[in-house]
Amino acid sequence: MAESTSNTVLVTGALGCIGAWVVAHLVEQGDRVISFDLDDRGHRLDLLLTADEQAGIAFVRGDLSDPTHVRDVFEAYPITHVIHLAALQVPLCKADPIRCAQVNVAGTVNVFEAARQAGVRHVAYASSVAIYGPPDLYPPGLVPGGAPLAPRTLYGVFKQANEGIARVYWDDYAVSSVALRPYTVYGVGRDQGMTSDPTKAMLAAAGGRPFHIAFGGRFQMQLASDVARQFIEAARRPLEGAHVFNLGGEITSVDEIVALIRRVKPDAAITHGDAPLPFPAGLDDSDLRAHAAQVYHTPLAEGVRQTIEHFERLLAAGRLRTP
Ligand SMILES: NC(=O)c1ccc[n+]([C@@H]2O[C@H](COP(=O)([O-])OP(=O)(O)OC[C@H]3O[C@@H](n4cnc5c(N)ncnc54)[C@H](O)[C@@H]3O)[C@@H](O)[C@H]2O)c1
Repeated sequence: MAESTSNTVLVTGALGCIGAWVVAHLVEQGDRVISFDLDDRGHRLDLLLTADEQAGIAFVRGDLSDPTHVRDVFEAYPITHVIHLAALQVPLCKADPIRCAQVNVAGTVNVFEAARQAGVRHVAYASSVAIYGPPDLYPPGLVPGGAPLAPRTLYGVFKQANEGIARVYWDDYAVSSVALRPYTVYGVGRDQGMTSDPTKAMLAAAGGRPFHIAFGGRFQMQLASDVARQFIEAARRPLEGAHVFNLGGEITSVDEIVALIRRVKPDAAITHGDAPLPFPAGLDDSDLRAHAAQVYHTPLAEGVRQTIEHFERLLAAGRLRTP
């Protein structure tokens, strides 16, 4: 269903998991997409869109940490909206903290600064659950958006810095922003990062292979397609100020995920570790619900079923291999 014909949307990290879903939904809805990514392998996008469907996308290969690359893209295209997703995830930040700071912190300044200079007044960008500390820092129950931040990883510290950068760009330059803080994103295309194991288990189950999920405990999961739609809405509906919203969803456990996978693939051979993720079990998304026109949430059972069936179609077509 076409919603728009006049938007030109810059998506940084467009070839990543969430980015590919953002691009797919934007293309479906008739927006012009400018993909900005360091990678030139659109393997995740190829899982979602045919070559014909990708024909109208402008693919720019660039490094977010280089201000000239970012400025150039704003000069080359009449960008009206920005969805900034490019980042290095927890394992890569651990492996190379300096590079991670350049990409995740300086890269975000580059996006806000280039947007400001180009007269683009609003940015939607990705923060993360990783800005919170371990669960024992918080009272029982869902953690509200305004709870104290206590990141325990450089990745989380850098995401907290992004939220500060956005606040200063609003205070000093009136560039508004909406950050979304996803928790564990799952779905086709989720193939890297600390919390990608549940999706890898769904792919393994679709292909009849065993899989071990490295962690346990309780946490929230969000379907990549839903998260992408939420980013699109965050970009299309500028709010005054620098807003930061938790994403929510049912609190679940690895045992429950395995049970949902077995509803679709009864013979799935999936084991898991016990160590919980170092975050509170659940985030309160009431700030998002108060501000967003729509909150996208596919129930977990349905999202798991859709994801496994999508993987089965891709495997049958030879477009994907099991882990
Ligand atoms: N996936 C999750 O569960 C999750 C949870 C919380 C927050 N987030 C955040 O959401 C955003 C998107 O996550 P994702 O899962 O799609 O990540 P991803 O790792 O799948 O994709 C990131 C993309 O950024 C690109 N990139 C990396 N360095 C770059 C650079 N220097 N210049 C240009 N592009 C570069 C990569 O090539 C990749 O295509 C990230 O900011 C991530 O931190 C994700």
